[in-house]
Amino acid sequence: MPRRSPRTGLTRLGRYLAGHRVRVSLLALVGVCSAAAPVSALLVVQDAIDHGMRDHNRGRLGRDVVVYLCINALAWVLQTTLVRGLASVGQNVVLGLREDLFDHLTQLSLRYFSQQKAGWIIARLTSDVDALSDVLSQGLTTLVVNTLTLCAAVVGLFVLDWRLGLVALVILPPTLILSRWFQKRSHAAFLRVRETISSMTAQIAESVSGMAVIQAFNRERAFLAEFDKANWANRRTNTHAQWLNSLFFPGIEFLGAIAMVSVLWVGGHMLGAGTLTIGTLVSAVFLLNLVFQPLQELSDLYGQVQSAGAAMEKISLVLDTEREIRDAPGALRLPRIEGDLQIDKVTFAYGREPVLHAIDIHVPPGGCLALVGESGGGKSTTAKLVGRFYDPDDGAVLVDGHDLRTVELRAYRRQLGVVLQDPFLFAGTIADNIRFAHPDASDEQVADVAHAVGVDRIARRFERGLAHEVREGGAGLSAGERQLISIARALLADPRILILDEATSNIDRPTEILIEQALDRLLRGRTSIIIAHRLATVRRADQILVVEHGRVVQRGPFAELLATDGPFRELAAQLHGSEAAALQSTPEPAVGSRPRSSARAVSSEPE
Ligand SMILES: Nc1ncnc2c1ncn2[C@@H]1O[C@H](COP(=O)(O)OP(=O)(O)OP(=O)(O)O)[C@@H](O)[C@H]1O
Ligand SMILES: [Mg+2]
Repeated sequence: MPRRSPRTGLTRLGRYLAGHRVRVSLLALVGVCSAAAPVSALLVVQDAIDHGMRDHNRGRLGRDVVVYLCINALAWVLQTTLVRGLASVGQNVVLGLREDLFDHLTQLSLRYFSQQKAGWIIARLTSDVDALSDVLSQGLTTLVVNTLTLCAAVVGLFVLDWRLGLVALVILPPTLILSRWFQKRSHAAFLRVRETISSMTAQIAESVSGMAVIQAFNRERAFLAEFDKANWANRRTNTHAQWLNSLFFPGIEFLGAIAMVSVLWVGGHMLGAGTLTIGTLVSAVFLLNLVFQPLQELSDLYGQVQSAGAAMEKISLVLDTEREIRDAPGALRLPRIEGDLQIDKVTFAYGREPVLHAIDIHVPPGGCLALVGESGGGKSTTAKLVGRFYDPDDGAVLVDGHDLRTVELRAYRRQLGVVLQDPFLFAGTIADNIRFAHPDASDEQVADVAHAVGVDRIARRFERGLAHEVREGGAGLSAGERQLISIARALLADPRILILDEATSNIDRPTEILIEQALDRLLRGRTSIIIAHRLATVRRADQILVVEHGRVVQRGPFAELLATDGPFRELAAQLHGSEAAALQSTPEPAVGSRPRSSARAVSSEPE
C-alpha cells in the first residue's frame, strides 16, 4: 500500500472531527491542564523535600502536602472530563461515519452489489469501523494525554535543573531510532492483521449464506480448510505484531533505565559537589518516568492509528464509489403516471459485452406485455432497466414520454411495483413483509390484499397466521409462498407499472392456481411486463415478445404467435410439455380456460 494512503484516510477522518471543533478545543485546554498537573505536583515534591523536610519547616511541609493533594484531586477531575469528552467526540465520529457508510451503501447501484462480495462490504462496516472506534475512543485520549504529559515532563525537567534535563536527553536519539523502527514494522504488521480479519469476515459471510449448498455437496471440509488458512494467516500476523511489541516495549524500558542511571550518576556527583539538592534529584527521577511512559504508549498508539488509517482507506473505497443511478439536476417529479412504457432501442452491457441489443418495446397504458425466451436471454435485465436499477448504454426507457434519467427516482419508484425472480423477504412477520412498500398501511388493508392474492390461505397453515415470523431471505417458506407474499407486497404498493419476474421453480398445482388468481388481481388496470415461464401466465398478455441473446426475435399476440411457425411455437411446445407433464392434462397447446385478466381487452399496439 502506498505510504500516503493511510494519511488520506486520516484526512477524511479529520473532516468528521471538524463538526466538533469547539468541543475539541475545550478538551485540548483540559488536556493541557491535566498534563501540567502531575508535573507541577512533582515540583511541589521537590519543595517539600528541600524546604519542608531538610529545613524542618513543618508549616511548609504541611502546605506542600495539601497543595500536592489538591493538584492530584484536580488532575483526577480533569482526566475524567478529558476521557469522557474525547470518548464522546470519538463515538460521535464513529456514529456519523457508520451512518454515512450505510446511507451511501443503500444508494449504490445493483452493479456494485453484484460485483462486490457481501462479506467485503460487511467487513467495512464492522471490523474497519471498529478499528476506528478503538482509536477514536481510547486512542484519542492516549494521544492527547501522553503527548501533553511528555512535553510537560520534558519542560518540567529543564525547569527543575537544566543540566539533568540535558543528561536525560542523551538517550533521546536511540529512543527515536527504536521508535521509528517499531512504527514502520508495526504499521505493516497491523495492515496485514486487518487484511486477514477482513478476509475471514468475507469467508464467514459467504459460508453462512451458502451453508445449504456447502452441506449438500459435502464441501464442509474444503470450506473449513479455506477458513483455516485465513485463520492461521491471522494468527501468524498477530503473533508477529506481538513479537515486535515484545522487542520494542522492554527496549524502551531499558533505555529508560539507562536514562535513570545517567541522571542518578550525574545527579549523585552534583549532589556531592553541592550544586544540586536531594529534592531536585528525587523529583527529576519521577519526572523521567513521566517522559518514558508516554513515549511507550504513544508508540503503541502509532500502530493503532496506522491501522485505523488503513481501515479508513478501505471505508473510503465504499464512500468514494460513485452513485451510478442518481437524480439529474432538476429532475422531474412525476405526477401520477398513465403508464405508457417505451423501451427505445436500448442497448445495455453489464461488463463489456452487450446483453441487450437495440431492444424496442412499447406497452400502452394498462397493457400487459410478456417476455419469454431461453435462459440468459436478457429478460430480467430488461425488467431491471424499466425499474431503473441500471441506465441503458444506448437508447432510452421512457415512461409517459419522459426519459427515466430525467425523472426523480423516488417519485417514479413509488409508482412502480416489482416482483423479483427470487423474491426476498425480510426477517419479520408475513404482514410486515406485505407492508414493506407501504409501512403506514392498516392491518385491514394488509388483510385485504392478503385475502385478494390468497396469502391468507397459506398463512392459515401457521399458528399465528399473518403474524407468522419469516426468517431473513424468506427461509422457512416455500418458493411459491414467497412469490405469493411478494405479489401481495406489490399489490399493496398499488403501482402504476408492474414488473413481474416469474420464478422458474416448479410450483405445485394449488399454489399455481393461487398465483394465477393473484396475478389476475394484481395486473388489473396497470401497465405490466411479465416475464413468464409458464404458458398460463403468458396467455394473459396482450403482446408477447420472444427474447433470444438480447434481441427480440418474435412479437405478437398469443394466438397469432402460436399459429406461426417460429421460435414461440417451439418454446410453447416445450413450456407446455413440462406443464403437461406436471398437470398430466390434455396435450393441446392453449391450456385450459382459466379465468384471466381483463388486461387482454387492451389492444396490442401495432409495431
Ligand atoms: N449482474 C450481472 N452482471 C453481469 N452479467 C449479468 C448480470 N446479470 C445477468 N447477467 C448476464 O446477462 C445476461 C442476461 O441475463 P438475464 O438475467 O437478463 O437473463 P434472463 O433472460 O432473465 O434469464 P432467466 O430466464 O434464466 O431468468 C446473461 O448472459 C447473464 O449472464
Ligand atoms: Mg431472469
